[in-house]
Amino acid sequence: MHIVVGITGGIAAYKAPELVRLLKKAGHEVRCAATEHALEFVTRVTLETVSGAPLYSDLFASGRTEHISLKDWGEMLVVAPATANIIGKVASGIADDALSTLLLAFSGKPVIMAPAMNCEMWAHPAVQRNIETLKGWGIRMVGPESGELACGVNGMGRMSEPETIAAAVLSTLHSPLSTPHSPLSAQKWLVTAGPTYERIDSVRFIGNYSSGKMGFALAEALANAGAEVELVTGPTHLNVTHQRINIRRVESAREMYAAATEVFPKCNGAILSAAVADYRPSECADHKLKKNGSEGMHLNLVQNPDILATLGDMKTPAQTLVGFALETDNEEANAQRKLEKKNLDYIVLNSLRDKGAGFGVDTNKVTIIGRDGSHKESPLLSKQEVAHLIINTVTS
Ligand code: PMT
Repeated sequence: MHIVVGITGGIAAYKAPELVRLLKKAGHEVRCAATEHALEFVTRVTLETVSGAPLYSDLFASGRTEHISLKDWGEMLVVAPATANIIGKVASGIADDALSTLLLAFSGKPVIMAPAMNCEMWAHPAVQRNIETLKGWGIRMVGPESGELACGVNGMGRMSEPETIAAAVLSTLHSPLSTPHSPLSAQKWLVTAGPTYERIDSVRFIGNYSSGKMGFALAEALANAGAEVELVTGPTHLNVTHQRINIRRVESAREMYAAATEVFPKCNGAILSAAVADYRPSECADHKLKKNGSEGMHLNLVQNPDILATLGDMKTPAQTLVGFALETDNEEANAQRKLEKKNLDYIVLNSLRDKGAGFGVDTNKVTIIGRDGSHKESPLLSKQEVAHLIINTVTS
């Protein structure tokens, strides 16, 4: 595998040669690209010696097209350390030196960054916004970690150790995660996200803990890959900024059903990640129900329409239908049954037994089961990374 290690100007740059050494030891070919400021912390001779290849650091040397040949050569780009400056440049589309130019040209292949900076800088809203932007594009962040910083204080901002970064690189190589900007242009996809609320009266509802994070990550990843996305979401505080995502906000399962069945015939595929209530109260009072002495209250529940099963019935051979399964026991068998019963092409299983997976959290751990019997298990990853893995699997 050909790996490019990018180095920017932070004190942690002194650890970059060790990262290069570990990647070479794991059997990979490595070339380095450094900013001018990185070379204040680590020398050209060191980087060229450990990598065994010329260093790329001057945009205006070698006929000015070195960034193109290096992006063609590289199969993965790892930036360690990644300063607030390079993170901000990439998030804003700035290409004013060798490494930032390479980063913008390096599309369609995995990129990993290991941020390192002072803790106040790391906490700054601009840096956090830029990090979220890059994650949304499928760039994987490793660290930073909490610990002693070069400025003498303890806090969040310390670059992960070279062993941790190398392990992240190797795990990404073994699970084809991020290929942002893969060609889905001219395609339209439906995504459902979030919970549904089923009204009991004018102030109460039956709901669930879904935050919408998984579904919004799927919509963003599809849009970044070029698709037009119809995102039908239940109540959530999340917003989208991508121009190719058309968001429809609904409240109940029946509203989600109406929106999803309307747009599905115009779509190439659909991924249903919403946590839809299976039941709703048979009646909804138009006022706040009052307590009746010490008596309990009985709610009569009726079944909601099954959106996924309905789309399975509507599906044409040219369409791809992907469902989710949130299970607590007999996970694989239950997911397999849903796959067949609802006429799906893939089902994405997440288990509530896996720590860090499922409702509300920023991470997930899934098994993607295909109608053809294929099984792909992910480690615990950010929901953005899981979204890329799902999209790569169901569109390849
Ligand atoms: O939103 P987050 O906080 O990020 O959490 C993500 C998630 C845990 C909600 C998500 O990863 C997930 O697992 N979504 C599916 C949850 C669920 O309701 O699973 P289920 O096994 O009950 O439903 C199976 C499938 O049928 C799902 O694709 C669901 O969208 C669909 N369904 C269910 C009922 C119904 N009436 N209509 C449906 O379309």
